Amino acid sequence: MSAYLNKLSTLGENLHGSEIRRLFATSMRPGIISFAGGMPDPGSFPAKKVAELLEKLLLDRGDLYLQYGPSSGTTEGIAAAINRMRRRDIITGADEVIMTSGSQQAIDLMTRIFIDPGDMILVEEPTFIGALGTFRNGKARIEGVPMDHNGIIPEELVNILANARKNGYRVKFMYLLPNFQNPTGLTMSVQRRERVLQIAEDYDFLIFEDDPYGELWFTGGLDGVRPIKSLDRNGRVIYTSSFSKIISPGIRLGWIAASSWLIERFDMGKQMLDVCTNPLMQAVAYELCIDGFLDAHIEKLRQIYSSRAQTMLDALTRFMPEGVSWTRPNGGFFIWVTLPEHIDALHMLDKALSHDVVYVIGSAFYAGSGNNNTLRISFCHESEEIIAEGIKRLGDAVKEYLVRN
Ligand SMILES: Cc1ncc(COP(=O)(O)O)c(C=O)c1O
Repeated sequence: MSAYLNKLSTLGENLHGSEIRRLFATSMRPGIISFAGGMPDPGSFPAKKVAELLEKLLLDRGDLYLQYGPSSGTTEGIAAAINRMRRRDIITGADEVIMTSGSQQAIDLMTRIFIDPGDMILVEEPTFIGALGTFRNGKARIEGVPMDHNGIIPEELVNILANARKNGYRVKFMYLLPNFQNPTGLTMSVQRRERVLQIAEDYDFLIFEDDPYGELWFTGGLDGVRPIKSLDRNGRVIYTSSFSKIISPGIRLGWIAASSWLIERFDMGKQMLDVCTNPLMQAVAYELCIDGFLDAHIEKLRQIYSSRAQTMLDALTRFMPEGVSWTRPNGGFFIWVTLPEHIDALHMLDKALSHDVVYVIGSAFYAGSGNNNTLRISFCHESEEIIAEGIKRLGDAVKEYLVRN
């Protein structure tokens, strides 16, 4: 190792893995119930259908699908992304889309294309840990905007923008997860979406909207969860979404929708990163979209996740002591738990592990410090039976911890 130490770049030296990845090894321990990851239900992956499609695609056009593809995406991949966005009331042309290796790559491209060290990015407080890591690697100055149950608070946003202006900082964009947010499960109200878009116009910054859970609502349909991009008339919103949560994360397929001018920049950036997104998987996604399979599949996913969320909420009501509160998501994968103020979720983790249950500490999702009394639990991966048992264990851990602290 000493051979490498004085040779690493500043980025290489300062790289640190995410809190969730670190917990991954622990959560694989036999007997542990993990609410830490955000991994989709493996039993729902459409493996048989994908196997049939792969055989057909490879036998028919293996020459095409095993070849390099265009950096911005294949015709099929782009058509698949447009198909999903149309269901979200976003109308885009083929030249306004680039396919990416998951939306994590979209976050990376966005950082590379827009951020110089010291540029300011605004984020919801708390926000997606994978985006925070990427923005940090890009040496952005990250400022969190406080949220309530309807999303970020516009007055707080305006104060932060006014301060940034006074102190000479350039706010390049605000990263937003309006639907079933990771980590809180909260959804931004329609009024707030309109207001934030107006503020972005007034203060001249971009909105980077990340929407991987947007189709996974439990009740109510599209009303109330239309992306901000669907309201955008001036190209101010750069939108990303992904097939990870609605087909499978292993296929590594996401996309960005933006103006064609910007898509060209992303294309040039992507050429240097990984040349192109997997053409075979873009063809698979297209086939799943065009024959209605994916629409029916998503309907099944809504039922699975909605039922698991309800089981988790019922178990929380049953097993959590007084003084603990949590969010009630209407979609997505996550519930956000707030413990009594004096409890540190990091210290409590040892107690939870002794009960064979694991979560992610909430402070890992904040740009700044504090908020140590919060944690994120996910209902996406475990069966309902395991969820109920895991929350019982977590309730026991919290009660024991409270008695001693
Ligand atoms: C909010 C959010 N954005 C982006 C991603 C990255 O997803 P992928 O790269 O698999 O599309 C995730 C994954 O958990 C996420 O929760």
